[in-house]
Amino acid sequence: MSVNTSAIILAAGKGTRMKSDLPKVLHQVMGKPIIRWVVDNTKAAGVQDIVVIVGQDSAAIKEELGSDVMYAVQEKQLGTGHAVLQGEKLLSRFEGNVLILCGDVPLLSPETLKELICAHEKGMAQGTVLSTLVCNPKGYGRIVRDKGHRVMRIVEEADASSCEKEIREINTGTYCFEKSALFTNLKNIADDNNQGEYYLTDVIEGINGSGGKVETLETADPDETIGINNRIQLAEATKYMKLKILQAHMLSGVTVIDPQTTFVDPECSIDRDVILQPFTIIKGKCQIGRNSMIGPGTRMEQAIIGEETVIDNSTLIDCKIGNNVVVGPYSFIRPGTVIGNNVKVGAFCEVKNTTVSNNSKVPHLSYMGDAIIGENVNIGAGTITCNYDGYEKHKTNIGDDVFIGSNTNFVSPVNVGRGAVIGAGSTITKDVPDNSLAVAREKQTNKKDWAIKRRKKPKQQDNK
Ligand code: UD1
Ligand code: CA
Repeated sequence: MSVNTSAIILAAGKGTRMKSDLPKVLHQVMGKPIIRWVVDNTKAAGVQDIVVIVGQDSAAIKEELGSDVMYAVQEKQLGTGHAVLQGEKLLSRFEGNVLILCGDVPLLSPETLKELICAHEKGMAQGTVLSTLVCNPKGYGRIVRDKGHRVMRIVEEADASSCEKEIREINTGTYCFEKSALFTNLKNIADDNNQGEYYLTDVIEGINGSGGKVETLETADPDETIGINNRIQLAEATKYMKLKILQAHMLSGVTVIDPQTTFVDPECSIDRDVILQPFTIIKGKCQIGRNSMIGPGTRMEQAIIGEETVIDNSTLIDCKIGNNVVVGPYSFIRPGTVIGNNVKVGAFCEVKNTTVSNNSKVPHLSYMGDAIIGENVNIGAGTITCNYDGYEKHKTNIGDDVFIGSNTNFVSPVNVGRGAVIGAGSTITKDVPDNSLAVAREKQTNKKDWAIKRRKKPKQQDNK
C-alpha cells in the first residue's frame, strides 16, 4: 500500500430483521461476533485506523471491540451516507483513502480487501466499488453501467425499475474512496428516494457528475460478500466460514472425516495428522497435538490436547490433557483439570479441577473433583470424591502408586499416602498412611441356610 488508508465500518443500523435483543453485529459466526470478523479482516488487510459507526445503543459493541477502534455515534439512522459522514471528524487528520465496510458483511477476506485497495490505487479512481455477480440479486444495490461498461450509479432494490432489477452485478457495500471525493460528494446527496434515506451509494453518481472516475473490482467469490440481515443469512455465513476454516486445516494436514458435522472455531490450532471424527465441535482457543483423534461426538472449549491422544464422545472444557491419553467414551472433563501422559479417563467419568498424573487410570464411572492424583494410580470403578459438604469444596490427595478398590468414597478433605491400598467399597474419612491397607466398610456376616427358610415362607396375597 503506497497511500495511507483508513477505514469506516458501518454498524449503527438497528438490524430489525434479526428479531433479536442482541445488536445484529454481535451475533456470532463460528464463535466470533460478526463485527469482530470485519474489524479483524480489515486489520489483517493492513488498515489500522478504523472508525466504527455505532447507534445510540452501543455499549455492547464498544465492550466487544474495546479500544482497538475509534467510535462515532450516528444518533438517528438516516441511511448509510449519513452514517459515513459521522466518521469524518475522527478522520480529519488522516489523508489518503478511506475503505468503507458494512459491519454486517463478515466473510470478506483480508486478501479481497487488499485487492480492492490495490485496484483503487492502480485505477487512479476517486471511488472503487467491490461488486460481484450473483444468481439472486434480490435485496442488494445493483451496479448500473453505460454502454461502454462504465459504472454510472448504484440503484437500490427499493428504487430499481423492473429492468434494473434484472441486473445481477451487485454492490457488496464495500468501497475504497479518495477521502476528499467521498466527503465532498456525501454533503451533496439527498434523501429523495423510496426509503427516504441518505444513500452512500449516491456518491457514485456524484463522483461521475463532477468529472471523477469510478471503478469496480469484481470479486470472484460471491459467497464472501454475504450480508447478514436475518438469521437465514447468519446460518449461510456460518456454513461458509465453517468450511473455509476446515479447508485451511485440511490443507495443513488435518483429516476431517465429515466437514458437514464438524465445527472448529477460527482460533484453534491443530497439528498434522490429527483426525477429526464426525459430530465434533471445537470452540474457543483449543490446541490439538499431532496424531490425536478427536470424536466422534466430542465438544471441546479452551482445551489443550497433547499428541497421540484420543478423545471419544466426550465434553472437555478449559482443561489440559497430555500425550497418549484416552478420554471417554462419554466423559466430562471440567475446568481446572490437568491430565498427564499415558493416562486413561472414562468411560462415563466426570473430572473437575483435578490433576491426574502420568500413567494413572480412572477407567470407569467415577467422579473426581478437587483431587490431586499421583503417578501410577489405579482408581477402581465407581469411585467418588465427596468434595462438597454443602458449604465448601475440599481436597482429596492421592499419592503415587496407590490402588483404590472399586466403589470407594473419599470424604474430603482426606489424604492417601503413597503406595497405599484401599479396599473396595470403603468410605474413607481419615488419612491413610503410606503403604497401608485401608478398609472402611461393615464386616460381612453370613447366616447359614437363611435363604431356604425365606423360600418356605408363604407369599402374601395380592389385594387387587
Ligand atoms: C447496503 C447498500 C446496498 C448493498 C448492500 C450490501 C446502501 C444504500 N445500500 O444495503 O447497495 O448492496 O448494503 O450488503 O448503502 N447502517 C448505519 N446507519 C444507517 C443505515 C445503515 O450504520 O443509517 C449500517 C448498518 O448497520 C449495516 C450497513 O450500514 O451494517 C448496511 O446497512 P443496511 O441497512 O443493511 O443496507 P442494505 O439495505 O443491506
Ligand atoms: Ca445489509
